[in-house]
Amino acid sequence: MERSFNSVTRPRSTQLLFLLIIPFLCTLTWPCTAAAAQELRKGFETTPNPSISSFQSLLNDSSGKFSFGFLRVNSTQLALAVLHVPSNEPLWMANSTTLSRWSDGTKVFFNGSLVISDPRTRTFWSTQTQGDKLVLLNNSNLQIQNGLDNSNNNVNVPTVLWQSFDHPTNTLVETQNFTSTMTLVSSNGLYSMRLGIDFIGLYAKFDPNSNQIYWKHKALQAKAQIVEGGGPIHLRVDPDGWLGMYQNETAPVDVESFNSFQRTLDGLLMVRLEPDGNLKAYYWSGSSWVLDYQAISDTCDLPNPCGSYGLCTPGTGCSCLDNSTELSSGECPGSGSHPNDLCTDPKTQNDTKVLRREGVDVPFKELMRYETMPSLEECENTCERNCSCYGVVYNNASGFCYILDYPIQTLMGTGDDSKVGYFKINKETKKKRMDPGLGVGIGLLGAALLCLVGAIGFGSYKIWMNKRRVSRMLEEETGGAMSGPYKDLGSASFRSIEMCSATHR
Ligand SMILES: *[C@@H]1O[C@H](CO)[C@@H](O)[C@H](O)[C@H]1NC(C)=O
Ligand SMILES: *[C@@H]1O[C@H](CO)[C@@H](O)[C@H](O)[C@H]1NC(C)=O
Ligand SMILES: *[C@@H]1O[C@H](CO)[C@@H](O)[C@H](O)[C@H]1NC(C)=O
Ligand SMILES: *[C@@H]1O[C@H](CO)[C@@H](O)[C@H](O)[C@H]1NC(C)=O
Ligand SMILES: *[C@@H]1O[C@H](CO)[C@@H](O)[C@H](O)[C@H]1NC(C)=O
Ligand SMILES: *[C@@H]1O[C@H](CO)[C@@H](O)[C@H](O)[C@H]1NC(C)=O
Ligand SMILES: *[C@@H]1O[C@H](CO)[C@@H](O)[C@H](O)[C@H]1NC(C)=O
Ligand SMILES: *[C@@H]1O[C@H](CO)[C@@H](O)[C@H](O)[C@H]1NC(C)=O
Ligand SMILES: *[C@@H]1O[C@H](CO)[C@@H](O)[C@H](O)[C@H]1NC(C)=O
Ligand SMILES: *[C@@H]1O[C@H](CO)[C@@H](O)[C@H](O)[C@H]1NC(C)=O
Ligand SMILES: *[C@@H]1O[C@H](CO)[C@@H](O)[C@H](O)[C@H]1NC(C)=O
Repeated sequence: MERSFNSVTRPRSTQLLFLLIIPFLCTLTWPCTAAAAQELRKGFETTPNPSISSFQSLLNDSSGKFSFGFLRVNSTQLALAVLHVPSNEPLWMANSTTLSRWSDGTKVFFNGSLVISDPRTRTFWSTQTQGDKLVLLNNSNLQIQNGLDNSNNNVNVPTVLWQSFDHPTNTLVETQNFTSTMTLVSSNGLYSMRLGIDFIGLYAKFDPNSNQIYWKHKALQAKAQIVEGGGPIHLRVDPDGWLGMYQNETAPVDVESFNSFQRTLDGLLMVRLEPDGNLKAYYWSGSSWVLDYQAISDTCDLPNPCGSYGLCTPGTGCSCLDNSTELSSGECPGSGSHPNDLCTDPKTQNDTKVLRREGVDVPFKELMRYETMPSLEECENTCERNCSCYGVVYNNASGFCYILDYPIQTLMGTGDDSKVGYFKINKETKKKRMDPGLGVGIGLLGAALLCLVGAIGFGSYKIWMNKRRVSRMLEEETGGAMSGPYKDLGSASFRSIEMCSATHR
């Protein structure tokens, strides 16, 4: 892909000016060019510095706002990341499912490919390119470029062989394009964002086989129509405070406006798929990340706000499907329950019981699969007979039988007792301490504006990395592998919210 801008090909005068303004970027006196700090050449190789406890910068952009380097995940692990320097917030990571050890054996080098290798954990990640240099652009895009050497004063645009913008992690920054071949994945690996033919979809991976859509935003097509056969759509975060959906560049087929819509803000704008499954936009105010947009504004519309076998009642908050239990005593009974083992191990039939609850509804029900059945009994029987059914919710008024084919998450509480839920549950489930973040999170979520306190970014990052390991286990597609970590997931989603202790404007 060709890019029209790049920090390396800027006129030399700009570089000299830059040198005068930020002399501390250079450790040598002469020849020390700004370009040297803004690109890595073939032959570059480095190992993590054991004395650095958080982030080891390898490459800065020309503005000093972004830095690429080793990010220490906890005392032992590290990732390759691009950071927003003022907030320490990682905007991109090489491969968040693969973490290396923070040890001498780990090295990063650029031999045409950007490579991280760690013989001890057998981590190996490579861009598999044959480029000349690695540069970090002033929009946080990390590129491997080919062809041109700016010592020739050649102002032609270099060829871009690889760029981090084509491999987003959980975040999009302003000007970044998100195409239909890309996926954003939340830090815990549970939620993802993808584009459909004319919509943005958010999907949940509640177990290795599930791919439940829980939020769908169709293009309104007010300014332009989607032309059939006119190619896939793409998204772009506009610095003017909106998320545009495009088919071609002439006009957006959809505009999702943020609070900062058409307000002139200096700070960086980013869109992130959060660990609770919400899609949020933030702008950097200079001291904190200010919430600018959220796709899901009602807590109970989130995919799993109260954890598994929980019940979210609008205006009331979280309780348990099993009404004999107080949520405050811990996670809901059934949490970590895997009645689906029935399919793989029929012996577990005896370990399964049934939980019924009136006045419950499925969340995001316009996106849920249902079959029409004449009676509750028939709806329940359909589920009982089918080992891959975890539960059903029957609406007596409409006759809709909603089938839950993934482990039971949070259901929606409704005053309507004609809606009845039937859920399979393991007879004995270990009770675990409730995550303290859960209760706090619910309260805070109600606030119209939330912020991300930059200083805490690294803390949530640790949690993020932990959840990445969980997601790796989930992806191993072995039924048993998910039983342990799965418990943590729902409640963990609130931690990042809990941390957000202040609201800024
Ligand atoms: C980023 O760099 C491009 C060209 O290199 C320049 O035109 C643009 O003004 C820079 N943006 C910022 C925010 O510094
Ligand atoms: C990047 O900038 C920071 C200061 O913001 C500096 O400490 C660091 O050494 C720089 N990194 C490189 C590779 O020059
Ligand atoms: C740090 O990583 C190690 C190795 O994976 C893990 O065992 C440990 O629990 C992590 N610690 C924290 C605080 O996340
Ligand atoms: C990340 O690493 C895992 C494990 O090595 C691999 O399966 C996965 O495909 C990688 N993802 C990307 C985007 O490179
Ligand atoms: C760069 O190094 C990797 C790992 O040693 C190797 O597989 C790859 O072929 C090298 N690439 C080039 C262009 O030399
Ligand atoms: C996004 O795509 C548009 C249209 O293809 C292009 O003009 C723009 O440069 C792209 N943005 C980035 C950051 O690559
Ligand atoms: C782009 O879309 C607009 C509106 O749908 C259409 O009128 C125009 O012809 C399209 N342009 C191209 C180059 O496809
Ligand atoms: C289930 O329990 C019943 C009664 O306790 C017993 O007869 C039956 O063999 C058990 N079934 C399995 C598959 O273990
Ligand atoms: C719990 O729910 C059951 C069935 O919906 C109902 O019969 C019972 O009265 C409820 N108990 C409490 C304490 O609310
Ligand atoms: C069992 O349930 C799964 C998931 O709902 C469904 O795909 C499958 O067709 C059902 N099988 C039968 C025999 O009804
Ligand atoms: C369900 O609907 C049937 C027929 O429409 C009605 O007879 C029955 O009382 C309803 N049951 C409940 C629990 O609302």
